Amino acid sequence: MNPQELENNLDYWLKNINKTTSFKELEQLKSDLLGKSGTITLAFKTISEVSVDEKKLFGERLNKIKSSIEDFILTKKKELEEYSMLEKLKNETLDITLPIKNNKFGGLHIITQAIRRIRNHYLARGFSVLDGPEIENDFFNFDALNMPKHHPARQSHDTFYLKEIEDSLLRTHTSCVQIRTMLNKGANVRMISIGKTYRNDALDATHSPMFHQVECLVVDKKPINIGHLKSELRRFVSFFFEVEDIAIRFRPSFFPFTEPGMEVDCKYFKKEGKLIISKDGDKWLEIGGAGMVHPNVFKACNIEQPAYGFAFGVGLERLIMLKSGIKDIRNLFDTDNRWLKYYGQ
Ligand code: DAH
Repeated sequence: MNPQELENNLDYWLKNINKTTSFKELEQLKSDLLGKSGTITLAFKTISEVSVDEKKLFGERLNKIKSSIEDFILTKKKELEEYSMLEKLKNETLDITLPIKNNKFGGLHIITQAIRRIRNHYLARGFSVLDGPEIENDFFNFDALNMPKHHPARQSHDTFYLKEIEDSLLRTHTSCVQIRTMLNKGANVRMISIGKTYRNDALDATHSPMFHQVECLVVDKKPINIGHLKSELRRFVSFFFEVEDIAIRFRPSFFPFTEPGMEVDCKYFKKEGKLIISKDGDKWLEIGGAGMVHPNVFKACNIEQPAYGFAFGVGLERLIMLKSGIKDIRNLFDTDNRWLKYYGQ
């Protein structure tokens, strides 16, 4: 065919390309026109028969026809691809109810395991398990806990203040939840709270700027005394370490929100480098802080006196490390999969 004939046919071919409904049809058309012995390819071969003067124009006309056909084929191909993708999506349904065959995607971190264990233990005993915000303010973190501004005890809490939000800080302990709870529930409280706390400490083997605390608070209008506190702590330690016979002692200490305040130790001994909690131990291990709720704290929470209460607070990471023989707190926050797998559940 000469260029004129080709041009006359072009519209017809383009329409045919447009009409195709499969890749196979399109390929066939492509091969008929542009393949080795396709119409357009053959037309290019006749260029040698054209006179020198006409060669340039002849070539230009053929090239124009060829590229129109190529463009059309390419556009059609994209259209067919899109269509086949949509068809595929329509026919492929994803059954998200199908159970996972091999549930090996991960496990519960040792801290999560401990939190859940403690929570379940206290829930089963009728305690409320309560949360408070991690971003606190002066009132809940300090003032209401009998630590007014410039109180020296504030210095021992290396606090992270949030510059962007006025009067806001990352809570340095979970004792703030005591205040929130008493303001809410008055003098009838049996609660624990487990959560993250923050202090501006450098990270080393025994310190982390973020760690968890477990806080316990019991308040009543009926007299509550240190005996109740000691009994509750015995239960907690014995439950946490899974040891029936334990021995604990109180050491006088100072916490502004308690009167009296004390530190709690429990007996242990070492066997082949491992720490064993036991009433037959020969050493004392510090577990946490405790005390009877200070009258000023009741006042800050609008609780009429006489009212009675005890509270204790322990660092969770430390207890986990003691129980599991983990030497470095940083391991708890590492992403070493071998470690996570070993302690995960
Ligand atoms: N909030 C104290 C701390 O972070 C620990 C503590 C001591 C909590 C005595 C208490 C308590 O509930 O009665 O160091």
